[in-house]
Amino acid sequence: MSTSPTSGITPREPALLGQTVVLIGGSAGIGLETARLARAEGAEVVLAGRDPERLERAAREVEARGTAAFDASDAVALERFFGGLADPIDHVLVTAGGPAYGPMLEMDADQVREALSGHVVVGLEVARYAAAKMPPGGSLLLMGGTGGRRISRALGIASAATAALPPFVAALALELAPVRVNLIAPGFVDTPLSASLLGDQLGARREELRATLPIGRVVTPADVAALAVHIMTNTALTGATYDIDGGQQLVP
Ligand SMILES: NC(=O)c1ccc[n+]([C@@H]2O[C@H](COP(=O)([O-])OP(=O)(O)OC[C@H]3O[C@@H](n4cnc5c(N)ncnc54)[C@H](OP(=O)(O)O)[C@@H]3O)[C@@H](O)[C@H]2O)c1
Repeated sequence: MSTSPTSGITPREPALLGQTVVLIGGSAGIGLETARLARAEGAEVVLAGRDPERLERAAREVEARGTAAFDASDAVALERFFGGLADPIDHVLVTAGGPAYGPMLEMDADQVREALSGHVVVGLEVARYAAAKMPPGGSLLLMGGTGGRRISRALGIASAATAALPPFVAALALELAPVRVNLIAPGFVDTPLSASLLGDQLGARREELRATLPIGRVVTPADVAALAVHIMTNTALTGATYDIDGGQQLVP
């Protein structure tokens, strides 16, 4: 079906036109893909990550407004980063940091504290330093996961850490209002993180997911980026967790 200029359908404006999106973890995977989509929707993007070369490559590709190389778990660096950004900052996506797997009794006390609270602390510090520059309706978006909802010896403390995130995000949404706070919970997503965790088993895992997931395909960074941009632009959404796992949690 084609639409003629007289059909009455007005082309929409890019959804993030004139807005600024900060991606902490924007040099790869879900963060970089969200930067690409945000640019396509008219936003300016600022990328942060640890590896400066990877960051510069990503920044060139998406024509980022700026970059900053630092570890997101460094609160001083986070404060300096947000202090140096012009306002307004419309949206912040944090994809830095991964899960800690393995038997809990093999972890020392510091590793347990980090595994349980790492994401919460980074999310809170980002909120603390970004909020003053975020307009009403702006959004902070954090990452959880659906995989950690299962309990297993291999997942270890990751299940407890995963369980903490939805209520944390909901409570933070109340404190940060009218800025919105939401959580994306993916299953397997085909990113450099998944490649590094699975090594030479990556191909077999993709095949298994294609065969078993209700959607019959693997979830990609583009799928998650589409959800992230939707949450950024839909100002009715706050305090909630959005699963995106192709039905992975529903199958054995
Ligand atoms: N991929 C999945 O299947 C999956 C599933 C569920 C949840 N998640 C979660 O989604 C998030 C993003 O995953 P992804 O697969 O997109 O990961 P990824 O491909 O490894 O990309 C992560 C990005 O974050 C940066 N980063 C990592 N740690 C950082 C730190 N401490 N400080 C600053 N930047 C940091 C990385 O760059 P540098 O390494 O250079 O810093 C990179 O730009 C993670 O929190 C992950 O746990 C992923």
